[in-house]
Formats: sequence, structure tokens, C-alpha cells
Amino acid sequence: MDNNMVIHQQPDRVTVVEVGPRDGLQNEKGVVATADKIRFIDLLSAAGYPVIEATSFVSPKAIPQLGDAAEVMAGITRRPGIRYTALVPNRKGMERALAAQVDEVAVFTGASESFVQHNINTSIAGSIENFRSVVEMARAAGMRVRGYVSTAFGCPYEGAVAPAAVLSVTEQLLALGVDEISIGDTIGVATPNQVSSLTALLKDAVPIERLAMHFHDTRGTALANVLAALQAGITIFDSSAGGLGGCPYAPGASGNLATEDLLYMLHGMGIETGINLEAVIAASRFLASVRGMAPASRYYAAATAER
Ligand code: COA
Ligand code: ZN
Repeated sequence: MDNNMVIHQQPDRVTVVEVGPRDGLQNEKGVVATADKIRFIDLLSAAGYPVIEATSFVSPKAIPQLGDAAEVMAGITRRPGIRYTALVPNRKGMERALAAQVDEVAVFTGASESFVQHNINTSIAGSIENFRSVVEMARAAGMRVRGYVSTAFGCPYEGAVAPAAVLSVTEQLLALGVDEISIGDTIGVATPNQVSSLTALLKDAVPIERLAMHFHDTRGTALANVLAALQAGITIFDSSAGGLGGCPYAPGASGNLATEDLLYMLHGMGIETGINLEAVIAASRFLASVRGMAPASRYYAAATAER
């Protein structure tokens, strides 16, 4: 049977991974004080997420915005039931993440060579080599590892990306022992038909329950892409409160799909997330006051206009 023709029932429940404190705050032009990051994460924790990606243990020269990763991890109040995760590019990052006692780490590479080179200063093959020891260290510590495949639908330097390239890097990450793969539309170019065909290709290589989708809403297609992914059987989605974000190495990339917009759609479809939408709005409202900028969430704008 043609994989593209398989339409699953919609899931009863979806795991929403909040990436705002990392994917969002890594891209800030102004400085967000460490205490405000901690307050933002604590407010997000009150919303009852299963997973919050809190920060990155990357080079502070590359991403000065997250140079306070250790202080942030030490300052937040961890709620039972929430996994607090962080990005790790290499051994040094893993050592820092272990010292900070994160619950899970994420390694990150991409499906296009130029992006990976700009982002982590190595080739795709080089990144996989670097991750080998990271995954070993995580395993030894009993930690789960997520792997990001960025630029899965398009690259800011190379344009269109072949689905076969996404499959290849996904298989390499799985071979290392990565538990979950997050497929990133870093520059927000994907359309639903592309999501359907890429998921159809990937699900022969990755059990569908280990596959996550990470959409940016740069061109307004993120929610449509979520629907296509739900129909393909995907049950893990990344989003950021208030649509925060972008990518320092992807010029013009706007924010992630806003968590509020994702939750509104999922809950409206009768799909549970366990996350309190009002509490996410409270977290976004706080961060908006710190940044002096309205959140890029349609639901947030509508909900706060009604009050
Ligand atoms: N944490 C802190 N410092 C680190 C580090 C880490 N994880 N990894 C490297 N460094 C430091 C090194 O100690 C070295 O410092 P020095 O100049 O004072 O000796 C310096 O950074 C360069 O180290 P090197 O190993 O040569 O790394 P690099 O310059 O090739 O950079 C990365 C590679 C991966 C560390 C860097 O490109 C990076 O952190 N990228 C992250 C980008 C990112 O987060 N993008 C957004 C997410 S998609
Ligand atoms: Zn992203």
C-alpha cells in the first residue's frame, strides 16, 4: 500500500515539548536577565508541561544569550513529572549539562551541510562523530537523548532539502542510540503535502512514537503542518510560548509555532495535552512585559483582546 494513503485516527493525547526558553531566548537581541528566565520557566512549569527545554550548554561565544545555562538550571523550581532538558553540542556541553543535573539532553545537527557548518562549525558527519561520546555519557547517566534534525524542509543557504538527506541523518542519529528524533522546519517553509511525504518516508526507519515535529511559523503553515503530521500518526510536537524564537544561523526565520495556538487547536479537536492554556498565557504575558513586545501568538492576541 502507498504510505501516503494511510490516514490514522487522530490521537487521544499529544506530547507538547515547550522550547521557548531555549529556541526562543537564544535569539533575543536584548538581554533577558537570568532571574526573568527563571521566572518564565517557573510560570511555564505551572502550566503542567511534560517537557520543558530550558536552555543550551553550547559555547557562550556562539550563543551569549544562553551563557547563564547553569544558573538558570540551578535557579528554577523543578516540578515532579516535568522533564527539564537542554541542548548539548559536544562533550564539554555534556559535562556542563551533567553538572547542572538536567533530566534529558538533546543533540542537534541538520539535513544540509551549510547550515550545520554555520551552526556548529562542523560537517554532518563530524556532528555525528561528536555526538557519539555525548550519547555514551548520557547512557551511562541513565539519561534520555533527543536528536534534532534541523533544516529538514529547507536550508537558508542551500534552499530545498532532499527528504533522503533527512532520512540519512535520522538513521545515523538512531544508530548512535538517540531515543527521539525531532524533525525541524528551521526556516518555516514546509507545506502539509511535504510533511505527509516526509513522515511517510521516515516512519519506515523510526517508530512513529519516537518522531517529533518542530515547526516554525514563518510563512503561516505551521498549524496546517501539525494537522498533516497528526494524520500521519505523529504525537510529539515542539512549540514555544508566545511564538518566541527564530534561529541565529537562519536569517529571517521567525518564531516557533506558538504553544497557545497549538494547544487551542489540539484541545478544540478533543486531543489532550495535560497543559493549562491559561497558565501558558500567564507565562507569555510575563515574558512580553520583560521584552516590551507583544507575543507572536494569534490565540494570545485574541484571548487578551477579549478581556
Ligand atoms: N560549552 C561551553 N564552551 C564551549 C563548549 C560548550 N559546550 N564547546 C566549546 N566551548 C568553548 C571551548 O572551550 C573553546 O573556548 P576557548 O576559545 O576559550 O578555548 C571555544 O568554545 C571553541 O571550542 P571548539 O571546540 O573549537 O568549538 P567551535 O568553535 O568549533 O564551536 C560549537 C563548536 C558546537 C561549540 C559552537 O559552534 C556552538 O556552541 N554552537 C551552538 C550553536 C547553537 O546553539 N545554535 C542554535 C541551536 S540550533
Ligand atoms: Zn527551532
